[in-house]
Amino acid sequence: MPKIAILSRAPGSYSTKRLAAAALDRGHKVRVLNTLRFAIDLSGNEPDLQFRGRRLSDYDAIIPRIGASITYFGTAVVRQFEQMDVYTPNTSNGIANSRDKLRALQILSRHDIGIPETTFVRDRADVKSAIERVGGAPVIIKLIEGTQGIGVILGPDVKTAEAIIETLQSTRQNVLLQRFVAESRGTDVRALVVGDRVIAAIRRTASGDEFRSNVHRGGSAEQVELDETYSRTAVRAAQIMGLRVAGVDMLESDQGPLVMEVNSSPGLQGIETATGLDVAGAIVDFITSQVDFPDIDVRQRLTVSTGHGVAELAVKEESDLVGKTIGESELDENKIRVLTLHRGVDVMPNPGTSQVLESGDRLLCFGRLESMRHLRAERRPRRSRVRKLPDPPLEPTEQERSASAESPPDGDFQAREVRHAIDPDSEID
Ligand SMILES: Nc1ncnc2c1ncn2[C@@H]1O[C@H](COP(=O)(O)OP(=O)(O)O)[C@@H](O)[C@H]1O
Ligand SMILES: [Mg+2]
Repeated sequence: MPKIAILSRAPGSYSTKRLAAAALDRGHKVRVLNTLRFAIDLSGNEPDLQFRGRRLSDYDAIIPRIGASITYFGTAVVRQFEQMDVYTPNTSNGIANSRDKLRALQILSRHDIGIPETTFVRDRADVKSAIERVGGAPVIIKLIEGTQGIGVILGPDVKTAEAIIETLQSTRQNVLLQRFVAESRGTDVRALVVGDRVIAAIRRTASGDEFRSNVHRGGSAEQVELDETYSRTAVRAAQIMGLRVAGVDMLESDQGPLVMEVNSSPGLQGIETATGLDVAGAIVDFITSQVDFPDIDVRQRLTVSTGHGVAELAVKEESDLVGKTIGESELDENKIRVLTLHRGVDVMPNPGTSQVLESGDRLLCFGRLESMRHLRAERRPRRSRVRKLPDPPLEPTEQERSASAESPPDGDFQAREVRHAIDPDSEID
């Protein structure tokens, strides 16, 4: 019978009560522990935890429900459970990364997940061009750590947007700028991901002329059947963030799903009420099926052996590896173990020695770093941005053609660099 601790500061909240009841229903032992009453004891021997001044008894799993106001302490407690090999569906890193909207989008953006065009600038002089790059005004201005729709503002025009950003920055708030996805018309989709599946989904609609669809902002919710693209996007986004239980918020744009954020402590009330589904039960069932596999920081563990480590290797077109099986290749000779093989968007975990390698494959390997050096994947080349063509496409005039050939692309940038170099305040932060 697994013993589960729910880390929550709100024992009376709907979500906490439902999770505790679902665990009890299934005959598990469960306790709700106030996250802020832990003490993290560190000594050379082994990681330990105190709760309300006494040594914590053994648990098989935790369900962290860490509120935005206690992210630092809360993730430290979760990390301590990880060090003690207690299962958690959401890792401390996953929680911290998803809490910061900028950090989350930075991580998602390398994985071919649709996200709204977003930019982060600091200098006032860069705001105007930043707004243009994300599609112009009206533009979304977002606090990096807002929740429940608070801290999401629609800047109607460039001047007002600049003023809002300046005001927020003067109170030491970091903000990002995002394309206003007008075609989603005040609606968004919340997919509740548990493990590798979307177990429930709702479409939320903002009330009146509000554009934010959060239930806390008066939005209404209805159950929705997600098509394949939307559910795959939601599951992949949660996986990339290291979250096995997550609420993935997506806008329905003309180009398909755009992930806005991935919530690590999704509220259950709205989604259970709208769908009538036992979401809490599904979460508890998933966790109890996983308790034997607490998360391991693979890189941390594998790099303890001197000279060894994990690296991503690329099978280049001209490489001797192309067409060979892993068994025939120099990988096997050099005792380089292939942990996963990435081909396009497919991942083959633990490929066998008879697996044939193709040009373009990327291999996550463990081995002696020195033997892997010459096979290392190069940094990805930067793709040039593909812009939408004007409708109908216009042929450049002869004049424009010769002008663009002459002016160096960074001309304007160089001029600004010079101006900054002579500005005595430019280095003062
Ligand atoms: N780029 C955008 N375009 C259109 N609507 C948006 C955009 N970003 C956010 N919204 C609306 O605002 C709501 C809150 O934004 P979100 O990023 O999820 O922040 P929060 O953490 O406060 O929920 C979304 O549910 C959506 O309705
Ligand atoms: Mg949201």
